[in-house]
Amino acid sequence: MTAPWWRDAVVYQVYPRSFADANGDGMGDLKGITSRLDHLEKLGVDAIWLSPFFTSPQNDGGYDVADYCDVDPRFGTLADFDEMLARAKERNIRVIIDLVPNHSSSAHPLFQKALAAAPGSPEREMYMFREGKGENGELPPNNWQSIFHGDAWTRVKEADGSDGQWYLHLFDTSQPDWNWENPKVREMFRGILRFWLDRGVAGMRIDVAHGMVKEEGLPDTEVNTKGLVALDSDKLPPYFDQDGVHEIYRDWRKIINEYPGDRVLVAECCAPRHRMPLYIRPDELHQAFNFSFLLARWDKTLLHDAIEKPMALSREVEGSNTWVLSNHDVIRHATRYGYAPDYKFGEGLSRDEPAPDRELGLRRARAVSLTMLSLPGSAYLYQGEELGLEEVADIPDELREDPAHKRGGVPGRDGCRVPMAWQHDAPAYGFSETGKSWLPQPASYGERAADKQVDVPGSTFEMYRAAIRLRRELKLGEQELTWIESGDEALAFRLGETAVVLNLSEQPLDLATLGLGGMRELLVSYPDEHAAGMLPANCAAWLTPAG
Ligand code: NOJ
Repeated sequence: MTAPWWRDAVVYQVYPRSFADANGDGMGDLKGITSRLDHLEKLGVDAIWLSPFFTSPQNDGGYDVADYCDVDPRFGTLADFDEMLARAKERNIRVIIDLVPNHSSSAHPLFQKALAAAPGSPEREMYMFREGKGENGELPPNNWQSIFHGDAWTRVKEADGSDGQWYLHLFDTSQPDWNWENPKVREMFRGILRFWLDRGVAGMRIDVAHGMVKEEGLPDTEVNTKGLVALDSDKLPPYFDQDGVHEIYRDWRKIINEYPGDRVLVAECCAPRHRMPLYIRPDELHQAFNFSFLLARWDKTLLHDAIEKPMALSREVEGSNTWVLSNHDVIRHATRYGYAPDYKFGEGLSRDEPAPDRELGLRRARAVSLTMLSLPGSAYLYQGEELGLEEVADIPDELREDPAHKRGGVPGRDGCRVPMAWQHDAPAYGFSETGKSWLPQPASYGERAADKQVDVPGSTFEMYRAAIRLRRELKLGEQELTWIESGDEALAFRLGETAVVLNLSEQPLDLATLGLGGMRELLVSYPDEHAAGMLPANCAAWLTPAG
């Protein structure tokens, strides 16, 4: 039996508002995605993961869903979706969508009904309404804080105009949490899953997969969980990683198993490392994002552990590995690697921070990306990383849309969501014909636009393309990894006959010192001139036995 496709797939994340804009309103759309499928086919990816395109007020870039079974008019129609799916299929590109089950938008009709209904009514039971504390219920029910800063509770006005109950929103006020103790919520989501699976999607990425179920009694928390990615913490807040969440996934797994064609459920899950395998037990989800690689800085031990530890854990459940370096929630890695390894990042990058070393950032980012693309398991890429696009710090506050910025005053995540650069000399760098773009694109996006890189030897795009092709030919994603002794400033391992070396030092590395002197270069992450058998500084290479 051959392994299912997703175990070693390369999946490309499309953030619909920022990928390609076909109607010229400055916001990307589904037709835009269809028009750029050639790019993805050239790159050679197996699948696209589409961030939310559902009906939504867009208070959190679409992670605030008002109708789970329709397309937001800004992005197009269901017919546009079907068309995109069909065109992608012709190119053997599967499509995974984003399911947002922890919360809806406050504009969801069921939340509006809940607001209009009385406390204790079945309508209110769909969400997490509670009485407040204090003499007149004027204090929130507990001390939970929103991931986007501020209280996680908002008080409502009752029908008679009086101050009433509070509802829980782990994210923005406009993102009320569903009540997963209510069987009606469970039933509704079964229907949503089927709606999209019937339409032909290859699976779902599950947003906040560690949320949904909250500890009984909603006790106060001792732990603060600011920001989206938390790892290795032993103390968990009572609203994350509760055992009850696994029951939901067992239920969903049964549904997805009814469908042909190896559909996949992948968790966006921020649980302590040792709890991660629970999500990918054989009767639960297929994969969970492993964010440790994304968090690892330019450091031998950190990178080594970010590879080895999650691999050891997924082995326990015969699960597959996933690797991620960038996504729509974090500072792009071409920028992260342009800072010293001990630089303390906040939530997003502000224009007041020192600028990164751009050249070094790109070099190191390419080296880590090439290393990542060799690893056993599947790789999740974020749109634009194949061009070396950078985080944009220079965004005026009034244009920033991230709710974390609005609530917490942090720069937030807009800097990694700036629209794509397709053509260096076109309006909005080819993002939209009118030149409109919902966030301003910096001049550096012109330098790194796709048309300056596709079919250009030595470009970042061509490095990714060659790596994806070779990875498939050599079946790297299916190999067992064995480490090669390599000192403090290099990372080296074998995958079958192929050896992979990452030189973390500022000096060229003599491959003979790792016992790899006789090997031939297949791919190097940066196109410098260099002597045979030497790996330039801040570079990675894939090697094969000579002859
Ligand atoms: C995780 C998503 O990746 C992020 O963009 C979103 O803001 C939160 N979940 C809330 O849905």
